[in-house]
Amino acid sequence: MIEVSPSASVPAGAPAGDPVISTLFRSEQGGHEQVVLCQDRPSGLKAVIALHSTALGPALGGTRFHAYPGSADPEQAAVLDALNLARGMSYKNALAGLDHGGGKAVIIGDPEQIKTEALLRAYGRFVASLGGRYVTACDVGTYVQDMDVVARECRWTTGRSPESGGAGDSSVLTAFGVFQGMRACAQQLWGAPTLRGRLVGVAGVGKVGKHLVGHLLEDGARVVVTDVREESVRTVLAAHPGAPVSAAADTDALIRTEGLDLYAPCALGGALNEETVPVLTAAAVCGAANNQLAHPGVEKDLAERGILYAPDYVVNAGGVIQVADELHGFDFARAKAKAEKIHATTMAIFERAEADGVPPVAAADRLAEQRMGR
Ligand SMILES: NC(=O)c1ccc[n+]([C@@H]2O[C@H](COP(=O)([O-])OP(=O)(O)OC[C@H]3O[C@@H](n4cnc5c(N)ncnc54)[C@H](O)[C@@H]3O)[C@@H](O)[C@H]2O)c1
Repeated sequence: MIEVSPSASVPAGAPAGDPVISTLFRSEQGGHEQVVLCQDRPSGLKAVIALHSTALGPALGGTRFHAYPGSADPEQAAVLDALNLARGMSYKNALAGLDHGGGKAVIIGDPEQIKTEALLRAYGRFVASLGGRYVTACDVGTYVQDMDVVARECRWTTGRSPESGGAGDSSVLTAFGVFQGMRACAQQLWGAPTLRGRLVGVAGVGKVGKHLVGHLLEDGARVVVTDVREESVRTVLAAHPGAPVSAAADTDALIRTEGLDLYAPCALGGALNEETVPVLTAAAVCGAANNQLAHPGVEKDLAERGILYAPDYVVNAGGVIQVADELHGFDFARAKAKAEKIHATTMAIFERAEADGVPPVAAADRLAEQRMGR
């Protein structure tokens, strides 16, 4: 799955001039501590490592491996994407209660074409050269096996395979964390932290979505799912024979389902936009996908329709909680206990939003900035 941050272009309101310099030094979306451009011509590595903040500890965030094929200037798109993603990680890590700042790296190119051991090891040496200011992990285009290779050059690597002492697939705790966010939505809307008897729509039943369906059914919810891959839908239905889980034709049909209580976008970014928000039948949105709001302002459209929105970067932090734990010798129970706190954090955000009269996204940003001292 390829997901490109919508902000892989100049952010709205950024001053004129070189887009990278303007974003970094002058725009509200900037303020990054350090940006490193890396090149290793023998292996073909071109990468950018962006460290937004180390105020709470070493910057932690994954490595995206992507070619930006639609962009007129892929290298510049990659740098801007890294800046935006690193900033997002600062906020995510702060609200997850981790002692980590935010960082992110992008390796520029098509992983299918250029990913080799030599390239990953060269990348690992660059991460190591930062001496622990940046801790890397998987993202779109990189996998646990890749992190095993990077780790041969760099001890500040997480998201490795269990065989190499890593935490493995992070989607397990990501799904668990999203489920905690859903329990908070239920508590806020219906007075009890359970989805029992509710109808929940899950769009995208890949690694995270399929685990999420399991939690929901176990809690007594009814579930409707959809996915562009028919096989993924079939797998989920087959995994729960006799359970109240059905399939919608597509996401458009799913979000219009009569009686839908909660909508969980678990596929690509931009799920909430001018087309979808007006037709949503659900009372709340809480899902795993990154960058669910197509652009700033959509959170206000949701609030105006009375739809409760649990910010994506709050509820999908289970994965980063999982890989952060790996740095201390992975303990699944300990990481799960931390991910369980996503319920309390989401409740605190809803309370702050009510008290300040702002949408939950704004309340979440304020709480994160308070912790970072920004
Ligand atoms: N895996 C993690 O730990 C993690 C952590 C944080 C955030 N996320 C985010 O959660 C989302 C899901 O991640 P994942 O790891 O499950 O990815 P995945 O690729 O395993 O699953 C995504 C699923 O969405 C489906 N899909 C794609 N386009 C669709 C569309 N238009 N309509 C319906 N289904 C569609 C795909 O076929 C796939 O089955 C992504 O946005 C990811 O960035 C994942």
